Amino acid sequence: MKFLVTGSAGLIGSQVVQDLTKQNHTVYSCYHDVIPECGIITKLDLTNPDDIKKTVNEISPDVIIHLAAMTGVDLCETEQDLAMTINAKATKILAEQAAKNNCFFVYVSTDYVFDGKIGMKKENDSPNPLGFYGKSKLAGELSLNNLASGWCIARTSTPFGNHSTKKSFPLWVKENLESKKEIPVLTDQFTSPTYVPNLSKMLIEVTSKQISGIIHLAGATRISRYDLAQLVAEKLHLEKKLLSPTKIDNMNWKAQRPMDSSLDVSYAAEILDEKPQEIQQSLELFLSNLDT
Ligand SMILES: NC(=O)c1ccc[n+]([C@@H]2O[C@H](COP(=O)([O-])OP(=O)(O)OC[C@H]3O[C@@H](n4cnc5c(N)ncnc54)[C@H](OP(=O)(O)O)[C@@H]3O)[C@@H](O)[C@H]2O)c1
Repeated sequence: MKFLVTGSAGLIGSQVVQDLTKQNHTVYSCYHDVIPECGIITKLDLTNPDDIKKTVNEISPDVIIHLAAMTGVDLCETEQDLAMTINAKATKILAEQAAKNNCFFVYVSTDYVFDGKIGMKKENDSPNPLGFYGKSKLAGELSLNNLASGWCIARTSTPFGNHSTKKSFPLWVKENLESKKEIPVLTDQFTSPTYVPNLSKMLIEVTSKQISGIIHLAGATRISRYDLAQLVAEKLHLEKKLLSPTKIDNMNWKAQRPMDSSLDVSYAAEILDEKPQEIQQSLELFLSNLDT
């Protein structure tokens, strides 16, 4: 199969292109600034509609996995036009080109489309984003409604994994505790932390089975940042007392975040062979892979 992957040097994208390449697929790895480590390296600027159209038409892929986004939650608040251009308008153009080329389109979206008043959201629960990042990603989701078929929205939550420059939350906890630094950790923010290799396998399975509609692809455990940090400390025998409990209201963020953006993943667990992993298992895999 011929894949076009956007955001292929990002936290999730770098794993996806690596996994697809290992499975001997032809992978066009699209990037903007950072050159991806594998696949056919393809420059693509999502702020340029002509570039998007030309790239998709020339490559004519069987599948597009669209991961690229403006992911800085606070940055999206201050750069709203750019966030809308990258996260929503580019998604619409990509999806339309995919439809024209008879290509299956997967849009990776976010738990931040929900307001987080109640967690464990299901696929058909109503979104209500609090910040502009979530609003722009939701606008990207809604642009797919005009297409008859051949698309999937895969929402994920707090991805963590190995990456050359992006430091996932468990690694940040590990490094600080190892250097005996006290760190503030939120007790009242809950998510469904997702191990990137698990997510990548689920995403690839969604493309091979051409699962349409919305699906939540996230970890199977709802957990607070604080409890997750405690787990990291326990597993690595580091000092838990360095974790300083903090509340979301004390954070000086520009954008408001949902308090409980955990996702119900029972649909994915039911239909996929690669199941959403529990945090105990995924954290162990992540921490043990750091040593290798
Ligand atoms: N990280 C999270 O907490 C989280 C949670 C839920 C959902 N998601 C969603 O998952 C997806 C992947 O997230 P991630 O954490 O892997 O992202 P990431 O590491 O921040 O990577 C974002 C990617 O977007 C690309 N990009 C940004 N602007 C671009 C432009 N103008 N043209 C082309 N490419 C551009 C970047 O390319 P360059 O590096 O080449 O500039 C980068 O590879 C996103 O759609 C995000 O909304 C993320």
